Amino acid sequence: MNIHIENVMEIDCVCDALILPVTQGDAKLYDTLGPSVSKAIRKALSKEFGGKRNEVLLIPAPEDIRPERILLAGLGEKKNVSAEVVRQAGGRAASYLRDMGMKKIALSTFVFPHLDLLPMDFVEGSVLGLYAYTKYKGQKKKISSITVLARPSEEIEDGLAWTKTVTSSVCFARDLVNTPANDMSPSQLAREALSLKRKNLSVKVLERGNALKAGMGAYLSVAKGSGEPPKFIILEYEGSKEPPVVLVGKAVTFDSGGISLKRPEGMEKMKYDMAGGAAVLGVMKAASEARLKRHLIGIVPATENLPGGKALKPGDVVRTACGKNVEIISTDAEGRLGVADAVCYAKRFKPRAIIDIATLTGACSVALGHEAIAMMGNDRGLLDIIKKAGEATYERVWEMPLFEEYDDYLKSDIADVKNVGGRSGSLVTAAAFLNQFAGDVPWVHLDIAGTAWVEKERPHMPKGGSGVGVRLLLTAMREMT
Ligand code: BES
Ligand code: ZN
Ligand code: ZN
Repeated sequence: MNIHIENVMEIDCVCDALILPVTQGDAKLYDTLGPSVSKAIRKALSKEFGGKRNEVLLIPAPEDIRPERILLAGLGEKKNVSAEVVRQAGGRAASYLRDMGMKKIALSTFVFPHLDLLPMDFVEGSVLGLYAYTKYKGQKKKISSITVLARPSEEIEDGLAWTKTVTSSVCFARDLVNTPANDMSPSQLAREALSLKRKNLSVKVLERGNALKAGMGAYLSVAKGSGEPPKFIILEYEGSKEPPVVLVGKAVTFDSGGISLKRPEGMEKMKYDMAGGAAVLGVMKAASEARLKRHLIGIVPATENLPGGKALKPGDVVRTACGKNVEIISTDAEGRLGVADAVCYAKRFKPRAIIDIATLTGACSVALGHEAIAMMGNDRGLLDIIKKAGEATYERVWEMPLFEEYDDYLKSDIADVKNVGGRSGSLVTAAAFLNQFAGDVPWVHLDIAGTAWVEKERPHMPKGGSGVGVRLLLTAMREMT
């Protein structure tokens, strides 16, 4: 799909459909497009279309203008329009036009200065809403181009370039998540990571033997039950000479639970247990494309969690790369084992911060549903940056506590720590477990178990992998000082 800026008037734009975003009951804005357009809009506004959020109406364009059709795209009440409302309207408008068989669409940007918002939010929503996972099904209807009607300026050109980078990275992450586990093994994920290699992005994969030498007994113990070899993926993008921020993404390409087997209902969805890793790969891809002025390291400890004959067992004790011994209570609490070893490994880079992102607990969606990422950490400044990025991107985060008493839940009779702290507080005790490995490095944990998979689609989020975390972390990294 081609997205470009063109300096033509709305009425002179040759396209299948011209999108006019409209706030509730506000038609006057488009009077400047001439009497025929203004009449057509007023007529529609009086009857079929109120301009409510995500409401759309496709009308034939008057004879005297070049677009074939006009799509009125509702933004709701003017005083409530936000960047997220605009993103959703973009997703709704674009996917509606695609479903109606349109190919070339154009966006009028008239309204945005009046709302103090940016047209690129609409474009972002459109691209994200048009996403479809087509590998095994094909897709007949496709938009071929989006023309953004605006006078070219450095600001808008840069905005479009950033939007293209961000959306393509979100879609890349979604593809990784949506791909079934038989086609997205740790080896395949490593190949996907290697495909991102550029002059400014290095990618290295540690094999089982290397990980063993690095002492990652916890991570490796998860892989024991699977025939698929584990792949510990490391990416580095050095956009500045400062100490790096290390991003760790859980990447269990399939989580059966292992010997502590999950129940069968919904198990097919456990291919999305690598969504944290996918987000990290998406961020690294975008950072290198956009030449972000940050030093970033991405670590993706990829493995499957299966109950094979050599599998990890409840009661086993495994040793992490930091030297801490972990008693396994449940082999289904495998994510924290891989993340813990990755956090230990991250410390060798003398990072200014470590952020891990993981589909870590079912309790995350029990607490927050599908509306927010659960966040816990040991550094107020870092927590606040991520919270702000969550508001800006609408990948909202909600902070949960890390009381020191939670450490007691994890005390083991025979090892330094247990991998499960019991049923109560299992969202926060998972974080308390990781906290013990982060030590005094500024660290934040993001649990995306509730947000990484979309069950009920939204205008800019089709069902399946959401790609959550890519926009959040990119924005946080950009804003970090
Ligand atoms: N991958 C799961 C968490 C999960 C569950 C993600 C549902 C997305 C949807 C994780 O490995 C897990 O199984 N966690 C256990 C931990 C428990 C044994 C303490 C859980 O949440 O049930
Ligand atoms: Zn599990
Ligand atoms: Zn898991």
